[in-house]
Amino acid sequence: MSKPLHQLIKKFRADDISNPNPQASFSEVMDIRLSRRRLLQSTGALGIAAAVPLGLSAAQARAAAPSAAGRAQTLGFRGVPFSTQDQVVVPEGYTARAFYKWGDPVGIAGKMPAFRQDAGNSAREQALQAGMNHDGMAFFPLPLGSETSDHGLLAMNHEYLDNGLLFPDGTANWNLEKARKGQNAMGVSVIEVRKNNGNWQVVRPSRYARRITANTPMGITGPARGHNLMKTQADPRGELVLGTMQNCANGYTPWGTYLTCEENWSDIFTNPGGNITPLEKRYGIAEKEEGYLWSKVDGRFNSEINPNEPNRFGWVVEIDPFDPKSVPRKHTALGRFKHEGAKVTVTPNGRLAVYMGDDQRFEYIYKFVSKNPYQPNNRSANMRLLEEGTLYVARFNADGTGDWLPLVHGQNGLTAENGFADQGEVLVKTRLAADKLGATPMDRPEWITADPFASGSLYCTLTNNNERGKEGKPAADAANPRNNNLFGQIIHWQEALGDGTQTRFQWDILVLAGRSDAQKAEHRGNIRGDAFGSPDGLAFDNRGVLWIQTDVSTSTLNQKEYAGMGNNQMVATIPGSNEYRRFLTGPNGCEITGIAFTPDNKTLFVNIQHPGEGKGDISDPANPKAVSSWPDGAAGGRPRSATVVITKNDGGIIGS
Ligand code: FEO
Ligand code: CA
Ligand code: CA
Ligand code: CA
Repeated sequence: MSKPLHQLIKKFRADDISNPNPQASFSEVMDIRLSRRRLLQSTGALGIAAAVPLGLSAAQARAAAPSAAGRAQTLGFRGVPFSTQDQVVVPEGYTARAFYKWGDPVGIAGKMPAFRQDAGNSAREQALQAGMNHDGMAFFPLPLGSETSDHGLLAMNHEYLDNGLLFPDGTANWNLEKARKGQNAMGVSVIEVRKNNGNWQVVRPSRYARRITANTPMGITGPARGHNLMKTQADPRGELVLGTMQNCANGYTPWGTYLTCEENWSDIFTNPGGNITPLEKRYGIAEKEEGYLWSKVDGRFNSEINPNEPNRFGWVVEIDPFDPKSVPRKHTALGRFKHEGAKVTVTPNGRLAVYMGDDQRFEYIYKFVSKNPYQPNNRSANMRLLEEGTLYVARFNADGTGDWLPLVHGQNGLTAENGFADQGEVLVKTRLAADKLGATPMDRPEWITADPFASGSLYCTLTNNNERGKEGKPAADAANPRNNNLFGQIIHWQEALGDGTQTRFQWDILVLAGRSDAQKAEHRGNIRGDAFGSPDGLAFDNRGVLWIQTDVSTSTLNQKEYAGMGNNQMVATIPGSNEYRRFLTGPNGCEITGIAFTPDNKTLFVNIQHPGEGKGDISDPANPKAVSSWPDGAAGGRPRSATVVITKNDGGIIGS
């Protein structure tokens, strides 16, 4: 080999554009709808409180149980500065500790292989250990239905692979065993965690411990179950898929299940003959890929051989973490795209409204509304709620109003003549259907979260979009107001009547990210306090504090327009204050993602993803510690993604 491996490997395609013809909406309008009246909105001045009658308590109608002590008025911690230290930095009075690192045993009795610092674990061992690149995560108190804050389950995603770190020799001598190890390093972990003498530990062994991988059998529900487009040679009925992968952000339901969301799955498939179908093109499947290499040794990922296999990815998957034998289910009613997360809310009339972003440049924001209502005391009925309902895509109008456009077969041109024979086909081709309806192309929708104190009040991170305004691409519009958008923004919307089943909303922009003293006006943000860019992870705690995590790409981290801004970080704000305070900075080359609080808000779990990532996405196996040696330090063999548990030294509430 003449060049080092990491130079030969092309960057993954996650950031490419698949929407060939995004509609430039209102490019002439530069009315940046900044939120000046957010406090009014979130305290019910728009009649929101009055919109929660119909026999349900306010708590049931809200997204998450809000603290009985009410909404926080101030941030109580002292912010930390920008950092380029190869460690997790938290404010004075807090402790952060890494646990459940990539390769640590998940905790299945009698099957707990230790991590080998030389990356020498086999595929079989990897299936019993933490996967790579921890991402979205949720805490489920034990026992089910309790509000316990010192014992529970953590379910978390393992988003993608770095083949340079996964093997001692990277992709040299490529074979099926290597692809299998990669397949076993993706998916989901369920671990049992408990606080002993103030110290959180993974419980091993645990009867809940489970790894779900790219080969775990899972069911299909909803209109695309059994559809012709879902049938393969291995599954002629179109009802059973092997595995989930590229699990990015997440959701959780009020009945205690975990939702894992399949994002950049198209990076794994290839169609080597080059006869890329329009559907494959719209989802970004290419002729070649050099990051994962599975399709070279496992025909399942070669769409020339298995044309429908890609259709079985790009879904939201529901997992019951309390039953390690349960079969995960892919819910096709929630649409097929590059799912970031799935924020579940309960509407005033008891139905579910689930909000989801499609994270690619110029893609859309979606919502699913369940046909049937949530029943607080009927878990088995609730388990079917995500199987039937209506999927909508968002249009953000320039005047600050918005519309949810239904993706329903037979309506608005979603007909057989236009390539949508039935509802199953609408869902397999969700992006194409949304194009037809005139949805608003956004600046990479990442996480969505819901204000626990205001029904139908949602926030979404639009992380960045450096193609906005380029020739042939949509120009800035009201909801995506900056061309060459390097820093991103957070958009907010308020459902009509505070009711997620409604099809109209009002929107505004919470914040334009970036430094307020940036040289170029186009990159200037309107943050007061601690600056950040490329917001990604986003969640409210139960006091109404909004937590924001950043994912600045390593190609710009702390350089160019991001010079001086250090490593990726996590900041907090109280919406309406426009005051941002930095709570955490991560080690070198990482992104900060995954947010899970215990019910008492006294423990915060956060994930550190891809510490040590260099400019090329794939590490040099000969020099794995080139950028970072977190968390094991000099003694370790390579950087490892890990969960970080954060507590306040006085035992108090995080952020107070
Ligand atoms: Fe996996 Fe859009 O972040
Ligand atoms: Ca993300
Ligand atoms: Ca991101
Ligand atoms: Ca990521």
